[in-house]
Amino acid sequence: MTRAIGIDIGGTGIKGAVVDLAVGELVSERVKHATPEGGVPDDIVSTVRLIVDDLVENHRGDDVTHIGVCFPAIVRNGRTMSAANVSDDWIGLDADARFSEALGRGIHFVNDADAAGYAEVVYGAARDHRGLVIMTTLGTGIGSALIYDGVLIPNSELGHLELDGDDAEHWAANSAREREDLSFERWAERLTRYYRHVEFLFSPDLLVIGGGVSKQHDEFLHLIDVSTPIVPAELRNNAGIMGAAALAQRHSR
Ligand code: BGC
Repeated sequence: MTRAIGIDIGGTGIKGAVVDLAVGELVSERVKHATPEGGVPDDIVSTVRLIVDDLVENHRGDDVTHIGVCFPAIVRNGRTMSAANVSDDWIGLDADARFSEALGRGIHFVNDADAAGYAEVVYGAARDHRGLVIMTTLGTGIGSALIYDGVLIPNSELGHLELDGDDAEHWAANSAREREDLSFERWAERLTRYYRHVEFLFSPDLLVIGGGVSKQHDEFLHLIDVSTPIVPAELRNNAGIMGAAALAQRHSR
């Protein structure tokens, strides 16, 4: 069995698990810690180390071959080039090297939405889908992943598409719905505008909608008026963990 550890770093929580990559299932419980206040690199690295040690010692992670870590930032060659909901100290940091040093072994570092989207293509809602799949995560921001014929094109950052002079994620993310107390109908009007723009630019074959709010997809997905087939994500909270683990293995090949 090929096992890898996946770690998903977010603005509020950091979670990790051991993943069986052959079947795409977690084979350990999820170990979760709160994201340290301020989100500075040293504190986050220490928390990830606690999680990895725990998984290796207590949760069947002793024979893992790879560790993948996903994070809410543009990641270029292991370096974090932005920082969403964490400290600005991440900007320009060689995260890959920092984590590898602290953990005493190589890791693979990727954007959080890229990990989630990749997992949906390999194991979830877009399994075996050919052509262009675009996954977006609707949360505090909007994360995006572009996967063409199973190959990830990283760092697409479609949450920052500018429409009406403003980043789409400022008015279309789930945080905008909550902040402005929008009904699902009103929110879906904004999402329609956003996804039509995405459709126009990329002509995707499938749109996958993730993020915590995708649990409530019955309330709004059918109201998004686009011509591309649109489906809810399937892997929910585990998508980042699974995708980070799978990308770590793929990267090592
Ligand atoms: C960031 C992305 C991230 C997304 C979801 C956006 O604000 O720019 O890098 O993937 O939020 O966390």
